[in-house]
Amino acid sequence: MKAVNSRASTVGRNPFIHELKFTMTEKIKIFLMSVTVFPVRLLLVSSLMFLAWPFAFIASMGRSDYIMEPQSWWRRFVDVCLRALMRALWFCVGFHWIKVKGERAKPSEVPILTMAPHSSYFDAIPVTMNMCSIVTKLESRSIPVWGTLISYIRPVFVFRSDQASRRKTVEEIKRRANSGGEWPQIMIFPEGTCTNRSGLILYKAGAFIPGLPVQPVVLRYPNKLDTITWTWQGPGAFKLLWLTLCQLHNPMEIEYLPIYTPSKEEKENPVLFASNVRKLMAKALELPLIDLSFDDREISLSHGPLSIHDDSSLLQFHQLVCRLGLRAERTDSLLQDQVQRARDLQGERVNLQEVSTFLNLSITHTLTEVHSLFDQRGDGLIDIRLFVIALSTVHRPSQAMETLKLAFKMFESEDNGYVLEEDLAAILEIMLGVRELDLSGLFSALSGPETAKITYAELHHFIEQHPHFVQDYLDFENHPRNFSQTKNCNGLSHSKED
Ligand SMILES: *[C@@H]1O[C@H](CO)[C@@H](O)[C@H](O)[C@H]1NC(C)=O
Ligand SMILES: *[C@@H]1O[C@H](CO)[C@@H](O)[C@H](O)[C@H]1NC(C)=O
Ligand SMILES: *[C@@H]1O[C@H](CO)[C@@H](O)[C@H](O)[C@H]1NC(C)=O
Repeated sequence: MKAVNSRASTVGRNPFIHELKFTMTEKIKIFLMSVTVFPVRLLLVSSLMFLAWPFAFIASMGRSDYIMEPQSWWRRFVDVCLRALMRALWFCVGFHWIKVKGERAKPSEVPILTMAPHSSYFDAIPVTMNMCSIVTKLESRSIPVWGTLISYIRPVFVFRSDQASRRKTVEEIKRRANSGGEWPQIMIFPEGTCTNRSGLILYKAGAFIPGLPVQPVVLRYPNKLDTITWTWQGPGAFKLLWLTLCQLHNPMEIEYLPIYTPSKEEKENPVLFASNVRKLMAKALELPLIDLSFDDREISLSHGPLSIHDDSSLLQFHQLVCRLGLRAERTDSLLQDQVQRARDLQGERVNLQEVSTFLNLSITHTLTEVHSLFDQRGDGLIDIRLFVIALSTVHRPSQAMETLKLAFKMFESEDNGYVLEEDLAAILEIMLGVRELDLSGLFSALSGPETAKITYAELHHFIEQHPHFVQDYLDFENHPRNFSQTKNCNGLSHSKED
């Protein structure tokens, strides 16, 4: 795949990684705190949590999911107790004082607060301070103790896997937002996942679909040693809790920005609404926009013997595919069907019109861009099989072997199941996101250079035997092994040619 598009520079970054490095002084401090303050704090925090639990449990008993019960005196009392207990809990964690800027709007004015950046479970602090509702995974209800506290604030539950229930979630948000302040405000983290706060990733549209005014809220953790960030690759929840409890003080800042009222155009177009609020929040935070979404996370973090080596072109492809709307409907059976049809073309290269027929999509600017990504020779014709491989790769980045199997189905000879060396090189270039792939290392290791073809079973076996297959047997532009040489080329490396 060609690498085009100027956005590639922001796309290469991976905000789902958190690397923690300690200086010697920090290590000593953590050690000293671990044997003194830490156990006391941990004891206090767990006691407060267990103390809060019965209140939350009683208050959530017998409540309906659809009707807001009247605020009786005892419910108000429980609410005040819970707020006090939660504040005490955060105090014991080390959030002694929390700087709050701006003012939270009333529920009758703004039903939805959009919070960013989302980077940790400590983002629950503003939620417990206001006892707002949140949108959360259904599974969080079954976390012991904490799950009861979550249920208390009447969250809107989502199931990530299933389309129909996603729609239900949006319906529920809409219903509550339109209740005119009867229901608690909903705090939504529109990024939908935790990042390392180095930028704002793409927003999901859920909070913006009702088309009602929102209040953006930005969060800051201005600590020197970042023990807060809890993202996909990096220290786990317990390690972060330990490290955070070992900090003398944990500063935090919550800033309520002015209410944002959508224009007529934004009301009709939630994606535009989301994008404008995101820009405004990024400006307030002085952070860059990173055009990645929750679903790109897997592409950035793929692992295994055939993990994606350079994700920039695949991320770009993924963005285009999402814009084409292929994501929602792209199911495994659809892929199988495309494989069959791509195979039937027997390597015949197709033009833009034929691609549009193949995908049953009209010719748009985005489709043209996708087409040109695969138009390596510049003659307007592409090998649709490579498109299907790229689609399968971004669809299930961690199941590279499945994608490889599917690629073999399209490329193998009907008689004997062999795929030619040059075809395999093209397949792996797409899957790994590399260029100028040379397979001679692989073939000479296999059986000598004269048989430049291979079956799926042979390759599968070989990869299982050699977990560092990509590093040891493949050669490509900017291979880690070649890195020192590329650097010495006075900037004449291939990567700068496009
Ligand atoms: C956070 O993400 C950025 C990419 O946006 C990355 O460059 C940086 O190294 C990450 N920070 C940490 C501490 O891992
Ligand atoms: C192509 O898409 C249209 C709507 O966009 C749909 O009605 C039609 O059934 C689709 N055709 C195929 C073969 O999937
Ligand atoms: C990588 O370096 C080796 C020599 O160490 C060279 O033979 C090979 O062609 C290089 N590959 C690429 C793609 O630059």
